[in-house]
Amino acid sequence: MAIQKVGVVGCGLMGSGIAQTAAQSGFDTLVTEVSQPLLDRGMQRIQGAWATMQSKGKLTAEQVAANQVRLRSTLDLNDFADRDIVIEVIIEQKEPKLALFRQLDAITPPATLLVSNTSSLPITEMAAVTKRRDKVAGLHFFNPVPVMKLVEIVRTVETSDATVAALRQFTETMGKTPIIAKDTAGFVVNFLLIPYLLSAIRMYEQGVASMEDIDAAMQLGTNYPMGPFTLTDYVGLDTTLYAAEVIYAEHPEPAYAPPALLRRMVTLGRLGRKTGQGFYDYTDK
Ligand code: 3HC
Repeated sequence: MAIQKVGVVGCGLMGSGIAQTAAQSGFDTLVTEVSQPLLDRGMQRIQGAWATMQSKGKLTAEQVAANQVRLRSTLDLNDFADRDIVIEVIIEQKEPKLALFRQLDAITPPATLLVSNTSSLPITEMAAVTKRRDKVAGLHFFNPVPVMKLVEIVRTVETSDATVAALRQFTETMGKTPIIAKDTAGFVVNFLLIPYLLSAIRMYEQGVASMEDIDAAMQLGTNYPMGPFTLTDYVGLDTTLYAAEVIYAEHPEPAYAPPALLRRMVTLGRLGRKTGQGFYDYTDK
C-alpha cells in the first residue's frame, strides 16, 4: 500500500519537523495538537522554516505555496479518519500514548498504519491496545528532523513485512535513510548514544575535565558535530533522562544508570535549549 495521506498527532519540535518534511515531500499532511495555542506555535515554526528556506534559495515561492496547500491543521482527531498513516509524536509518557492508540484504532480504517516516534517506550505495548498489531511500528526520527537523514523503523514480533515495506518507501520519499530495528529499549541509536552522554556527565562529575573541554575533545577529536553537553542540551535533559531510565530498566547495568547531576538538573527545570538553560546558558542567544 502506497502512503499518500499522512497524519501527525503532536506539533512540538519533533512533530512539526515531521509534518514539515512530509508536506515538503509531497504528502497530503494533517497535523493536530491538544490546544489551539500549541497548534499555532507548531504551524508558525513550520512557516518560519519555509520562509528561511525560501530566503536561502532552497525553495521557490511556488514551492512554499504548494507546501502550504498540502499542510492542514485541525483540533479534531476524527478528521484523521481518511489517513493512510498516523504518526504519534505526543508527550513521552506511556498512558497518554496508549490512550491515543486506542482512539486512533477506533477512528481510522483497519488499513491505516499507526506508528510512534517514541525514542524509548515499547512499541509492542502500543500495538497490543489495537486490533491491527501487524500495522503498528515505531518510526523514530532525529532532531532536527528536516536535516537528519536517519529514521529507525522499529518492528515488533507482529509488525508485518508489508508494513515495513510501506514505511521504508514512505521514509525514502521523505529523503531519509531507514534502518530496521527490533523493539528493544533504545532501539539502535539511543542504546549507543545515551550511555555515551551519561558517561560524559559522570566524567564531569568526577572532575576529569570541564564541560567545555569534554565537548571540545569529542567535537575536535572525533569530528562529532556537537560535544556531549551541547548535544544533551539540544536533545533535552528530560528526554535524555527518560530514555536512560527506560534503557536502565531493561538493562540494569551501571553504564545506563542516570547520573545524579542529570536528575538534579531536570528537577530544577534546566532542560536544555528549550528552557534557555541546561548545562549551558542560552538566555542571551
Ligand atoms: N530545521 C531545519 N534546518 C535546520 C535546523 C532545523 N532545526 N537546524 C539546522 N538546520 C539547517 C541549517 O539551516 C543549515 O542549512 P544550510 O547548510 O543549507 O544553511 C544546516 O542545517 C546546518 O546548520 P547550521 O549551519 O546552523 O549548523 P551546523 O552545521 O552546526 O548543524 C546541526 C546543526 C545539524 C544541528 C548539527 O550540529 C548536528 O548534526 N548536530 C547533532 C544533531 C544530532 O545528533 N541529533 C540527534 C539527536 S538524538 C535524537 O534526536 C534522538 C532522540 O530520541 C533523543
